Amino acid sequence: MTSYQVGYIVGSLSKESINRLLAQALIRLAPDNLKFIEIPIGDLPLYNRDYDDDYPPAGTALKEAIKSVDAVLFVTPEYNRGIPGALKNAIDWASRPWGTNSLSRKPTAVIGASPGKIGTAVGQQSLRSALGFCDSPQMTAPEAYIQFTPGLVTDDGEVTEESTEKFLRGYMEDFAQFVARVMAALPRD
Ligand code: FNR
Repeated sequence: MTSYQVGYIVGSLSKESINRLLAQALIRLAPDNLKFIEIPIGDLPLYNRDYDDDYPPAGTALKEAIKSVDAVLFVTPEYNRGIPGALKNAIDWASRPWGTNSLSRKPTAVIGASPGKIGTAVGQQSLRSALGFCDSPQMTAPEAYIQFTPGLVTDDGEVTEESTEKFLRGYMEDFAQFVARVMAALPRD
């Protein structure tokens, strides 16, 4: 079976992030043919287009990291019904300079957790809109809005609720199939 390298981006910079825990759970539950590497976003300066003529190392590193993987998995909280500024900033860095958009044709999936019942649903729509503009093929189903109750995922990334574990395992199986389909249609350069 073909293996695929997946870069995962956690939208939260918090050391206590429930979305980081969710990412760890997803990695544990993913099929063996998906290999994971984190793409960090916490050290990026705030993007502005004056950087475009001379991208700083942090911006170049982000673009290289995205280029080197087959797919990107976004695991993010919702902040004020949108995505965290750090994540939007990273997408802006990745999308520029004009003509070098790192997310173009890159298969992606979006998932997130919040303590509230809507489980990042509104924030995810905002992320999907940005990814759509960036020409990224997105897995559109299943959607995954995770309400994070205390202890749902252990510090080791183990999911303690059977139905959620089953759902997340299925989500990652679907993601692996989605990546394979996109890679067959849009092979990397
Ligand atoms: C939140 N939170 C939140 N939750 C939600 O469901 N919808 C929202 O719009 C927001 N907005 C929001 C803004 C800001 C600035 C903060 C700090 C928090 C609550 C949020 O879901 C909760 O803090 C999560 O624990 C954040 O995810 P991480 O950082 O733990 O991964």
